[in-house]
Amino acid sequence: MVKLKFRYNDVMEFIEKDQIRLFDSEFSLHHKNLYSGKGKGSDFTGWVDLPSKTGNDLLSRIEEDARKIAEQSQVVVVTGIGGSYLGARAVIEALSGPFDGLLEQPEKKSPLVLYAGHHMDEDYQFHLMQLLDQKDYSVIVISKSGTTTEPAIAFRLLKSHLEGKYGDEEASSRVYAITDASKGALKKLADEKNYATYVIPDDVGGRYSVLTPVGLLPIAAAGISIRKLIEGAQNMEKFLKEKSELSENPAGLYAVLRNILYQKGKTIEILAGYNPSLHYFIEWWKQLYGESEGKEGKGIFPAGVGFTTDLHSMGQYIQDGLRNLFETVINIEAPRNKVEVPHDPDNLDGLNYLKEKRISYVNAMASKATMLAHVDGGVPNMEIVLPEINEETLGEMVYFFEMGCALSGYILDVNPFDQPGVEAYKKNMFALLEKPGFEKESEAIKKRLR
Ligand code: PA5
Repeated sequence: MVKLKFRYNDVMEFIEKDQIRLFDSEFSLHHKNLYSGKGKGSDFTGWVDLPSKTGNDLLSRIEEDARKIAEQSQVVVVTGIGGSYLGARAVIEALSGPFDGLLEQPEKKSPLVLYAGHHMDEDYQFHLMQLLDQKDYSVIVISKSGTTTEPAIAFRLLKSHLEGKYGDEEASSRVYAITDASKGALKKLADEKNYATYVIPDDVGGRYSVLTPVGLLPIAAAGISIRKLIEGAQNMEKFLKEKSELSENPAGLYAVLRNILYQKGKTIEILAGYNPSLHYFIEWWKQLYGESEGKEGKGIFPAGVGFTTDLHSMGQYIQDGLRNLFETVINIEAPRNKVEVPHDPDNLDGLNYLKEKRISYVNAMASKATMLAHVDGGVPNMEIVLPEINEETLGEMVYFFEMGCALSGYILDVNPFDQPGVEAYKKNMFALLEKPGFEKESEAIKKRLR
């Protein structure tokens, strides 16, 4: 039985119950097509049965490399962008303490995970290299195409730094490349330098790749159980496959409800969390849904907020602004650690009414209160409830959102597995940078900028 619960009572005052039933047969068709590889973009549906196909050999090899990284390194630099970065960071940050890098934890064997290649900020890169001068480190470099500019620049710097610090041979033993089986510059480099290499399956696109080595190696290197993560995803995979009726399939209901709301002019979905550790999970979700659905002049715009922090910044707009919003809220039933509000004999702050209450209780009340207020303010709310944030529930939630996204894209009648729009800026950027092969575009773009 899966642990994730999907609730949508607070949407029902915005739609008719019959509207959901109208999608029964469409859902069945898309559900069937996803498993039989007959829908749009079916070359990229390898993620559908990926959890159940993940074998012990792969997991053992990843665990072995994670152990080697931990033995050799205080820091591991995960180098990638978009789908080659966000999934790993989502899981690692959800399960790490916020001050792990600063705490003295002699019992902790795993290295601190840092990130590179997810932007082109020169100052960031400078500070990273400054830190790496002082730390023993390894690098996990991830790029399916093997040609993406941001990670390629970052890796060029890291490779040169590693070789300078450790010499060529040891430097090579500290690099793990995750890329295409046969093509791209990273594959060529990995072969030449004899890096340990993992393959990203051909039929799994970047934003659906967190449960491949793309996510699994960094997650294992961070000391997190990839077996439990995969187990959670397997449970959700099995559950959603068996539920071929829309009324029983939570990912299907999520997909259908967001499309009904979209048709009613709710064009922005806000994914809200009440735990800062979910910040990067929300970032991962934004990419998954934005890149999968925003095309052909269509698609719900995925936004994210972290409550209660953002209730003090975005709360006003959500409560009272343009009514084109709906929210999906991730609520966690129990924290992994216990902190209570202490009794204070002076009670100058008037908080004794909360004495000995858990902080999580106050947080949960804030969540319930906000949900009611937002629904009253015209913002439909859906809810994802997890008993706790752990490897298993995160595995479930990753798969739930992947399946929800694919089904939602099919209902919207787009290919949820391509991303033609991301090439437009790259062409201009390469022209401006005078990349060989872009001479004609270079002339044209310079005229536009004059
Ligand atoms: O989901 C996607 O396809 C993208 O976000 C890619 O993952 C991202 O652009 C990085 O691409 P690559 O892995 O080829 O470097």
